[in-house]
Amino acid sequence: MSVLRINGERELRGSMRVHGAKNSVLPIIAASILASGETVLHNCPNLSDVDAAVKILGHLGCVARREGESVIINSAKMSRCDIPHDLMREMRSSVIFLGAILARTGEAKLSMPGGCELGPRPVDIHLSALRELGAEISEEGGNIICRASKLRGCRLNLNFPSVGATENTMLAAALAEGSTIITNAAREPEIWDLQRYLNSLGVDVRGAGTSTIFVEGTRVKSDASHRVISDRIVASTFMAAAAVTRSDIELTDVIPAHFATVTKTLREMGCRIETGSDNLRIRSNGRLKAVRPIMTEPYPGFPTDVQPQLMATATSAEGTTVFVENIFDNRYRHVEELRRLGADIETAGRVAMVTGVKKLHGAPVKATDLRGGAALIVAALFAEGTTEISELSHIDRGYDNIEQALRSLGADIVRAD
Ligand code: EPU
Repeated sequence: MSVLRINGERELRGSMRVHGAKNSVLPIIAASILASGETVLHNCPNLSDVDAAVKILGHLGCVARREGESVIINSAKMSRCDIPHDLMREMRSSVIFLGAILARTGEAKLSMPGGCELGPRPVDIHLSALRELGAEISEEGGNIICRASKLRGCRLNLNFPSVGATENTMLAAALAEGSTIITNAAREPEIWDLQRYLNSLGVDVRGAGTSTIFVEGTRVKSDASHRVISDRIVASTFMAAAAVTRSDIELTDVIPAHFATVTKTLREMGCRIETGSDNLRIRSNGRLKAVRPIMTEPYPGFPTDVQPQLMATATSAEGTTVFVENIFDNRYRHVEELRRLGADIETAGRVAMVTGVKKLHGAPVKATDLRGGAALIVAALFAEGTTEISELSHIDRGYDNIEQALRSLGADIVRAD
């Protein structure tokens, strides 16, 4: 079993390019099956979740191969419409294939995704939107079966701006007859990136980034090429690391507007941050200060995917920072691990209170989930002594060789068996 071994208290210095966004790439890989030709996806990070999505493509009869930072997908010979349980289990977000498979073949059969380390993960909003587009849906023996001889565009309102449900609806609507208007849609940058990919396939989609999205169903072009946007959560993770280690780093190939709430919070904690059009410099010196409550919300609010990393940063700040997790029911599993490093954190339901300490101390800990694992890395970089983080498969889902990236900035971190 591999571990990340980190000797903390090193300053980070230098410049690092941020890789492509996991949460953009995954729905775009699903969307690629709407086309019956070749999609070339550039800036595709090397992540186990991307491998899992590529495995699903293979199961469906599509051909996909990686060439450096690109993934080339040919979906001409797609021959199946099901995703079996073992592939669904590998990546819970495989549910984003549902709308695209249904639109392409008229039928989709997916094993129920079930809960995950973040709590129950219902798909009721996805299913109700697909029903409104004309799908008949049944649940049999742990599978969801969707059928639609014809999908028809309509006006539909999501009862919560779910990211995955917005994506599924856009993908199903892309091949539906007529226009679809989605209200209360998620506004995340990854939705905008999906819109850009669909536009490159010739689908008239507008409005992504606002809560109303218009999709004009159409026959799509067979080939497309797309460069995935950079990962705002990875950028935020490195900013959290720089903040806690009192460092000075530059991040390149970023879109600072996509993580403005994180930048604002870190500025309030005492960091100096200068943003350019596609780069950013963060400088931190002196002790960080606790800030007003950090409440996670759908975009453009504070992202739930950065709550654990900022909590790790807040463990070192002077005073008490309150966190309120509003998106997932069970996103404090990293708290117990941060406590092992000496963090002072109390939780009550959705609220966590973090009182900063002068030092954390290295210890063996385990990643409980993807961003919780990233939080442990951030905390370990600050801690005195050696921290060993196990259960790295969680971290590898969303960070492309994070140890090498941190080493290039001067961190003392290795992956060891
Ligand atoms: N929800 C429902 N019913 C539904 C769908 C969602 O109740 O039908 C609830 C969920 O249980 C959750 C909340 O709504 O409590 C938000 O879920 P959403 O559908 O917006 O999230 P998602 O599409 O499953 C994506 C990201 C997550 C990120 C969330 C929120 C991908 C592949 N995943 O998940 O990313 O946390 O949006 O921003 O895009 C991560 O990268 O670490 C990660 C978990």
